[in-house]
Amino acid sequence: MFCAAAAELATFGAVAPFLSLLADPAQTSRYPFLQSLLHAIGRQSGDADVILAAATVFAIVAMCAAAVRMFVSWLGFKSTFDIGADIGAEVYRRTLYQPYKFHIFHNTSEIIAGLNKTQTIVAGVISPLIQSANAVIVSVAILIALIYVDAVAATLCGVGFTLIYLAVTVTTGVRLRANSKMIAENEVRRVQAVQEGLGGIRDILLDGAQEVYIARFMDIERARRSAQAANYFISGSPRHLIESVGMILIVALAYWLSLRPSGLSEAVPVLGALAIGAQRLLPQMQMIYFCCAALNANASSLTDVVALLEKPLPENDTMSSSVDRLDFKSDIILRDVTFRYHDDSPDAVRNVSLRIRRGDRVGFIGATGSGKSTLIDLITGLLEPTSGVIEVDGRRLGPKSHKAWQRCIAHVPQSIYLADATIAENIAFGADVRHIDMERVRMAAKKAQVDEFIDTLPNQYQTLVGERGVRLSGGQRQRIGLTRALYKQTDILILDEATSALDDATENAVMRGIESLSRDVTVLVVAHRISTLRDCDIVLELKDGHLVREARYHELDYRPSSMSA
Ligand SMILES: Nc1ncnc2c1ncn2[C@@H]1O[C@H](COP(=O)(O)OP(=O)(O)O)[C@@H](O)[C@H]1O
Ligand SMILES: [Mg+2]
Repeated sequence: MFCAAAAELATFGAVAPFLSLLADPAQTSRYPFLQSLLHAIGRQSGDADVILAAATVFAIVAMCAAAVRMFVSWLGFKSTFDIGADIGAEVYRRTLYQPYKFHIFHNTSEIIAGLNKTQTIVAGVISPLIQSANAVIVSVAILIALIYVDAVAATLCGVGFTLIYLAVTVTTGVRLRANSKMIAENEVRRVQAVQEGLGGIRDILLDGAQEVYIARFMDIERARRSAQAANYFISGSPRHLIESVGMILIVALAYWLSLRPSGLSEAVPVLGALAIGAQRLLPQMQMIYFCCAALNANASSLTDVVALLEKPLPENDTMSSSVDRLDFKSDIILRDVTFRYHDDSPDAVRNVSLRIRRGDRVGFIGATGSGKSTLIDLITGLLEPTSGVIEVDGRRLGPKSHKAWQRCIAHVPQSIYLADATIAENIAFGADVRHIDMERVRMAAKKAQVDEFIDTLPNQYQTLVGERGVRLSGGQRQRIGLTRALYKQTDILILDEATSALDDATENAVMRGIESLSRDVTVLVVAHRISTLRDCDIVLELKDGHLVREARYHELDYRPSSMSA
């Protein structure tokens, strides 16, 4: 930054001597440097030679100054975008490390919009801040130099421009901040509108509801864009006003100087230096003003990004991906576990007490909304009980032991998330492609009854499944999900209605594959059909969050209506 200031000074610092030489070449004697330069190249110090030499020196100074300015500007942009990348990654990291409850209550649009806002912050806050810090130093240097050239004119210039910019900053601040709030809110609504449209595309196509969605999007987009236009105008336009004021000032000054007895020729160097100084000073002052305006114009996005950056991270020892699996030996015990999603919502799970021994096959049944998935999320430690205790091998499960516990669990939900990647990558989800154990992948696929299907595909395990697995049927997706869980080879396997999309025969075959797992593996199955639980040692029935029955499979009456989930 100080180099940039020096470069600015050098350019117009060289102007005054150059112009005065032009006006009166006899002054060469005042610049011994020029004389020795002329001697060095073997020239006489004639007028034309002097001017040529001065022009050359001036050109070299100008080129060096330009090079320094370009370098400083490159450095500025590079550090701006480096900081931007760090902020973006940090927001994403903090989001991914938030507990499951955070994600339940936060719309994904809010989070995606939050990441988009980091982009706004880079262009609208960090970049202006870095550039204006530079501009402050350069402005001060230019002002000092101008004061040296002509103190009165320079002070008038500096104070005048500063006052105009201050007045504009104060009067436009409220408007800029109001617009920034509207832009930030509409950013979230915009992402939400796009996600809703694409997420519900099947219904939109069937109902021909495109125009409704487009109109909704347009409303949001128009409001956002007109607020942006206003902010751009407010941030950029004072420049035009101040440029004309500057021109008038210079002309007035020229007129004033020409009235002096020495005439205009004496004044040319001063005028030249002032004109170039002002021409350099104005963009710097505009930059400083732009930064103040940008801070106001992006205040809301900045607040939102800072809030995301302030989200707590878990303690270091549970954050590392190298947490070891907990050595599950004996049992999981729930004592009076109650959970509610909101303080004012009813209990989703109420006073549940149970014991699951290692190696047990436990089935869960109950009507939709009876709390089966919530109970599973409590057991996995994704949710924490509102009251009551969960113990693993006699030790209470808490934030410190969650990670090690979760390493022992493979969970298959009813709707499995598939990434737009190959089947093998989806099975070894989250693993580095180079470290996928294909033999393990094949064995898991065989148990999940999906190996034959995969073999019929053109690229077998390297076939791409499309976004969210659109190129697969519901049943195929579910079996890939099962394979993913089996690939992990964990001590505990949880299937939450994971076979609901399979036909009876395939489901039976899948359950036989599960049954053939070692008796060391504990299996929890939430079933869509009661027959799925045939191999379970014990079946637990939930109703309105309560555990109402604990029975063996053959002790249950077959009641399809109440059992379907
Ligand atoms: N994310 C959530 N936020 C608020 N309430 C929820 C949420 N998920 C489930 N619930 C409520 O908790 C109860 C139990 O739901 P759930 O455990 O999903 O039932 P099941 O899996 O047996 O169908 C339901 O009343 C449901 O409305
Ligand atoms: Mg459920």
